Amino acid sequence: MSTTILAIESSCDETSASVCVDGKILSNFIANQAVHEQYGGVVPELASRAHMQHIVPVVDTALKTANTELSSVDAIAFTQSPGLIGSLLVGGQFAKSLALSLDKPLIAVHHMQAHVLANLIDDPQPNFPFLCLTVSGGHTQIVLCESPASMKVIGETIDDAAGEAFDKSAKILGLPYPGGPLIDKYAKEGDPNRFKFPEPQIPGLNFSFSGLKTSILYFLQNAGQSNLYKEEFTATEEEKQAFIQNNLADICASIQHRIVTILLNKVKKAAIETGIRDICLAGGVSANSGLRQAFTTIGEQYRWNTFIPAFQYCTDNAAMIAITGYYKYQAGQFADLSISASARANW
Ligand code: KG4
Ligand code: ZN
Repeated sequence: MSTTILAIESSCDETSASVCVDGKILSNFIANQAVHEQYGGVVPELASRAHMQHIVPVVDTALKTANTELSSVDAIAFTQSPGLIGSLLVGGQFAKSLALSLDKPLIAVHHMQAHVLANLIDDPQPNFPFLCLTVSGGHTQIVLCESPASMKVIGETIDDAAGEAFDKSAKILGLPYPGGPLIDKYAKEGDPNRFKFPEPQIPGLNFSFSGLKTSILYFLQNAGQSNLYKEEFTATEEEKQAFIQNNLADICASIQHRIVTILLNKVKKAAIETGIRDICLAGGVSANSGLRQAFTTIGEQYRWNTFIPAFQYCTDNAAMIAITGYYKYQAGQFADLSISASARANW
């Protein structure tokens, strides 16, 4: 007998639904919310309202694309945590109502664990135990994954997430939100070694990105002459803007290079400490072409088996919720209909 999971993701500003049969993804439909661009970041209230508008057509499209009737769905999986509470509530309430009306089991999924398990969607797949660098707009973690049901965070950011570092750097450069993909785009034409930004000295496997943001601010206020604080910054606003315009590609390439080296130096450390050689990327920032390339190159150097999910499974999507739901279904890990959403989550 086959197992069909209908999954819903609504933790931030993407409304997504996916159908998965026996671990194979048949559809993964995502509705983005352009409304936030003009505000330079996600506005939670607007995100919840947009989820309300999108959720029915998104689920409908996912079912139709997969050629699946609601009556053949065996369980409903949904993102229960972490995320924006209003956004989570929309997807969660919809999933609960469906489960109740269809009299099918409900499966609660941890969004960050789902990012990790996105690596189990396509072949080739990592062997357990594997390490996963999960880099998104809200999180930066190194996860030791022993099985789909057993994961441990062994390193994480003590301040900004890697995605925030990209987005905040882009904002300082006057680029629109979300700036990560734009930095990636401009970096392709630039020299990553032209400007030097400092690497924070954080012990263990933890990360820090807030110092980078500050050094970029000082760097621009000194028109690229120094990234240190000065009593009086040398550049006027006009000079600063001219410097950015004339050097945008090199600035973006240098920022990206620093973020990528901060991330990968810790992954190297984790690989050495644990002795694990199957290593994965996950999360929205794993769409970054510089990170993907450097990760693959280092993997070849150190003889790791490296895995990166397909592009559409890196940023927020319901396929990763579906694959996690599939493993939870097999393990009989179902949620009670009284379950609520949670903005923060324990592992
Ligand atoms: O995982 P995700 O889609 O949502 C969260 O759960 O946060 O990650 C979104 C983050 C944003 O910060 C976005 O700027 C970043 O991923 N991002 C990128 C790229 N594509 C998405 N950052 C750098 N380069 C990219 N190509
Ligand atoms: Zn995410």
